[in-house]
Amino acid sequence: MAQPQRVGDLPEDVDTDDCMTSYTHIYSPDLLKDQVAFITGGGSGIGLRIAEILMRHGCDTVIASRNQDKLREAANKLTAATGRRCLPLCIDVRQPETIGAAVDDTLKELGRIDILINNAAGNFLCPATSLSFNAFKTVMEIDTMGTFNTSKVVYEKWLKDHGGSIVNISATLGYRGQGLQVHAGSAKAANDAMTKHLAVEWGPSGVRVNTLAPGPISGTEGFRRLGGPRGETSGAFQSIPLQRAGNKTEMAHSVLFLASRASSYVTGAILVADGGSWLTSANDVSMLLGHWSSEMKRNK
Ligand code: HXC
Ligand code: NAP
Repeated sequence: MAQPQRVGDLPEDVDTDDCMTSYTHIYSPDLLKDQVAFITGGGSGIGLRIAEILMRHGCDTVIASRNQDKLREAANKLTAATGRRCLPLCIDVRQPETIGAAVDDTLKELGRIDILINNAAGNFLCPATSLSFNAFKTVMEIDTMGTFNTSKVVYEKWLKDHGGSIVNISATLGYRGQGLQVHAGSAKAANDAMTKHLAVEWGPSGVRVNTLAPGPISGTEGFRRLGGPRGETSGAFQSIPLQRAGNKTEMAHSVLFLASRASSYVTGAILVADGGSWLTSANDVSMLLGHWSSEMKRNK
């Protein structure tokens, strides 16, 4: 009989926005020695674990999003766990001037930017008929405009003259038209195209541009908002080829591959890290509508 994936094959993770108490390196701990990474949305969830893993490979980081207190707390945890520098900077990816100021501060304090991770995003379940025009626009502005704004600012202020690597965090929502996700699916599909356009235009400056598309990742806001824990208890993960949700460290390892010289000849690529989920999982609008309306009632 087939054996499920062994637990020992999975990297360590914790479900909260804390750093890990133990970590086993897969790559050389010096892989990113003395590099600097700028990570949008690096104060929570997948972005925080990406910051931790890059720092555990010798990198200093900037974590940038809207809530200064949350960022400061995360930066303290990251520095305590890794011994590397982490600068918490307030930005709204919809406002290019806030990104410009943060990039200037980064260059003043840390002297360089080798890696940009476009991870900031906003999402919620909502059927198209209930989605206001402003709600659709808001998600497009955070996910798509935010990725373009940050890429353009970091490229023009540093990467164009020094080279480097950009990794965009996407999703598989648009591949099969996921129900109740027209806003986020459309935004991430635009980002997947942007990855290819910018890889073509910026390759000659020594800038690689790639995308990671995660599946359902436990211990994250995205997972909670899209009904992940509920899916877990109702056995929905049995329809995923690897029979489980992913963890944040697994996403960070994929980002480490794309951001580092481990992938030196890879650009314009989309790496799907979802346990095979999008190929086989249900896309059941009635079930999603049921979940959405019970959440709406609970939040009233
Ligand atoms: C319907 C909603 C809504 C909801 C907000 N809106 N929440 N509509 N259902 N649950 C509407 C509002 O009514 C408003 O429209 C418009 O969206 C803007 O809302 P604001 O609250 O003013 O926007 P803002 O303060 O900018 O906040 C953005 C946000 C928020 C996206 C709405 O949820 C946020 O800040 N999210 C960041 C964290 C996050 O979402 N993490 C999960 C990422 S996971 P009106 O018309 O009333 O003005 C992810 C997973 C992908 O991306 C795939 C997983 C498998
Ligand atoms: P999360 O913790 O909510 O991460 C989103 C981050 O973006 C937050 O730190 C948030 O911080 C920041 N952010 C939101 N709006 C911003 C804005 N306008 N300007 C600057 N920063 C902003 O959720 P997550 O689940 O870890 O998601 C991380 C990434 O993975 C997202 O790109 C998401 O689409 C992708 N993803 C997640 C899953 C999953 O299962 N979790 C699956 C597929 C893809 P503030 O609110 O403090 O600003």
